[in-house]
Amino acid sequence: MILALETSCDDTCAAVVTDDGRLLSNVISSQEVHDAYGGVVPEIASRQHLQLMNLVVDDALKQAGVTLDDLRAVAVTRGPGLTGALLVGLATAKAIAVARGLPLIPVDHLQGHVAANFLVGEDGAPGLEPPFVCLVASGGHSFVARVDDHASFTVLGRTLDDAAGEALDKGARLLGLPFPGGPHVERLAAGGDAAAFSFPVAHGVPGLDMSFAGLKTSLLYTVRDLDAAHDGGAAARSADLAASYQHAVVDQLARRTVRALEQTGLDRLAIGGGVAANGPLRARLQDAAGTVHIPGRALCTDNAAMIGAAALHQPAADPADVPGLDVYATDRRSL
Ligand code: KG4
Ligand code: ZN
Repeated sequence: MILALETSCDDTCAAVVTDDGRLLSNVISSQEVHDAYGGVVPEIASRQHLQLMNLVVDDALKQAGVTLDDLRAVAVTRGPGLTGALLVGLATAKAIAVARGLPLIPVDHLQGHVAANFLVGEDGAPGLEPPFVCLVASGGHSFVARVDDHASFTVLGRTLDDAAGEALDKGARLLGLPFPGGPHVERLAAGGDAAAFSFPVAHGVPGLDMSFAGLKTSLLYTVRDLDAAHDGGAAARSADLAASYQHAVVDQLARRTVRALEQTGLDRLAIGGGVAANGPLRARLQDAAGTVHIPGRALCTDNAAMIGAAALHQPAADPADVPGLDVYATDRRSL
């Protein structure tokens, strides 16, 4: 079995995954200290990871009912993410690997979001086998990819500006909601009318690429106009605004995903990333293909189980290279 660590942003995560893709534990410690700042403060994230990492690892081993002696490898997110945050996970993984003489498997965070779909379900249902189309929508990335094997994927289209989660977080802020905004928008939207306002859905963007920046600006102007008109201002319409805004984000993600299915001829779909925890998005895509695999919400938002799932299909680093292994901050596929 593999111990996996994930510290790319503000969640300190450790999980134990068996060699046949079963999840024995999945510990996620979310750092609530950032909420007061309206966003993740990188330096604070690193310090929090330092404080939480060992506790989270101990907890993951304990919940799985195993010890370090039972592991065959340690896996860790190497990037993309916040450099200081990633370093805590990588340094911890290196320490365990070197001290225990275990192989270290570096994992790409985005490959992890795809690989969440390979895990055996809680009900024992097998994970999804490639080939399939995968929509990944998170706070830092949004793309639709073709997955032909367990170890890699090909990006078919990506956002040209903001990520879907970023658009939801920025929209939430305009509506006076706390960070991270996605779940708050979803909750507020549940009591609103998605057809109340018409926000742009990037029809001008060709192919499978996406764009969310115009949407955010459109919400800004709508809120301003409502506030200027008094009559309760934007606050009086916040549920309708949230529902309409969420609809525009979901609509664009779903349209690009359906188009990717059509273009590839694949009839198998998976989703991942924090925004894939969104109820209306999950509902909209659940019948989009003959086979649709939607991981549980805790496997969509950042977690270490998905890193363990990816590690089952990734090579271990050469032991001689482990001490010098470094993190990377940006998506290597876009370089
Ligand atoms: O994958 P993730 O946990 O971290 C990154 O890799 O970025 O994604 C975080 C993003 C945030 O923007 C958050 O607002 C969004 O996922 N998110 C949601 C929901 N839960 C998290 N967006 C919409 N609906 C949700 N229920
Ligand atoms: Zn993520």
